Amino acid sequence: MNKSDDISSFFSPKGVAIVGASQTPGKIGHEIVRNIKLSGFSGGVFPVNPNAENVLDLKCYGRLSDIRAEVDLAVIAVPAGLVEGVVRDCIEKGVKAAIIITSGFSEVGNKELEERVVSIARRRLRIIGPNTFGVFYAASRLNATFGPGKVLWGKTAFITQSGALGLALMDWTTEEKYGVSSIVSIGNKADVDDADLVEYFSRDPSTSSILIYMEGLRDGRKFFEASRRAVREKPIVVIKAGRSARGARAASSHTGSIAGQDTIFTAAFEQAGIMRAEGMTQAFDWIQALNENPVPKGENVVIVTNGGGLGVLATDKCEGLGLKLAELPNDLKDEIKAITPSFGSVKNPIDLTANADDVLYGKVLDIVLRRRDVDCVIALFCQTANIDPILVAQAMLDARDRDILEKPITAAFVGGHLSQVAYSRMLEKRFAVYPSAERAVDAMYALMARHRQLEKFKGGGELR
Ligand code: ACO
Repeated sequence: MNKSDDISSFFSPKGVAIVGASQTPGKIGHEIVRNIKLSGFSGGVFPVNPNAENVLDLKCYGRLSDIRAEVDLAVIAVPAGLVEGVVRDCIEKGVKAAIIITSGFSEVGNKELEERVVSIARRRLRIIGPNTFGVFYAASRLNATFGPGKVLWGKTAFITQSGALGLALMDWTTEEKYGVSSIVSIGNKADVDDADLVEYFSRDPSTSSILIYMEGLRDGRKFFEASRRAVREKPIVVIKAGRSARGARAASSHTGSIAGQDTIFTAAFEQAGIMRAEGMTQAFDWIQALNENPVPKGENVVIVTNGGGLGVLATDKCEGLGLKLAELPNDLKDEIKAITPSFGSVKNPIDLTANADDVLYGKVLDIVLRRRDVDCVIALFCQTANIDPILVAQAMLDARDRDILEKPITAAFVGGHLSQVAYSRMLEKRFAVYPSAERAVDAMYALMARHRQLEKFKGGGELR
């Protein structure tokens, strides 16, 4: 790898300088220092500000060159007019990576300044931004953002072109218990772009999946080539905004992106093996299923439910998405028939009836998960007055722990307060659980799509 291609200093720096660090709470340069301190980063932290002695009890330096220790990452939060000079200081100091938080560049038509900054940095300093809220990287305990101080750690690297949406999602992921391995606010992509990050995260051991919020691409070819390589290692899910003509115009005025013709993007995503989600809900549903489950080894899906209606809805959704409901062999049917009420159904969907308690769920899940002719299971539960959803949730969690053949399971809990509690407990235990049957099926669809993709690679095939 060419030295200038290496972007690891953004994620695992030895020392970080915050240029524009401020003593005033609420100012961006203050909040970044606070987040870096609070996140427990173990490398050196060096505030830089000629007008301050110290910031948050850390010694403050007048200029980068005053710092004796090694600094490989600089976070720049000074007004736009000062950025050029700071970038020159970075190069002089031997800094390898700079996150330019500052706005006021190409996004407001100031292309010239942006190009000048990039050309000064060329081949010596890599840049994320300008116009970014920063970078979070869990494995280094580095929160170099002015977003929330607390972020739930997980397995997904999230790359976002929208700053405000990314900041909101930082909070939301923690609230909803979706952890992230990294969050990168990519800003104006003057230097480091989606392709560089996809390449990096495809090799990053702390990342299992990559999620991108994208409005447009500067270099489509580079991105799709990097993605084709990366999907061999990890799934990539993209939310591409600007599907409609009006949406595309909005994207253009938001980040200056050329949203392009949407059908072309759809085809290119498909060819590169990128999964395109409709929006945030679907993207996070898919990511959750992909992160928390093994990939199915085959196509046979079994639905287990206590509600006939829920089973029918799930069946319709499976059909619509091209998921194959397994024909259950007679010996399997007999085994289930022996323990279910006579008014239940042992066809697929397996309807355990409203009498189904945690014990029955546990037994039936064990039976189907043990079978080599079943590849994945969708477990559905409708709240009834006689059964405690929390016990059923525990039965599903226990069944997953006994799932020695490593089959993927998605679940849905539909109902009131107790179902919500059950759902939250399962989420906490990293079970791919959803509040509707349709979403549990859609999440299984993501796993099946990944299975089909890996099968193509195994056969030595390229994606279409
Ligand atoms: N080196 C280091 N520090 C310096 C220098 C220098 N050469 N010159 C001045 N400073 C200090 C200042 O003294 C000040 O510190 P102080 O509070 O102790 O006085 C600090 O640097 C910051 O300078 P200010 O002039 O106070 O600038 P301010 O903090 O108001 O704004 C900022 C700087 C935040 C970078 C602003 O220009 C900006 O771009 N804001 C928008 C950022 C943004 O939204 N980015 C996109 C995020 S994504 C999204 O959409 C949410």
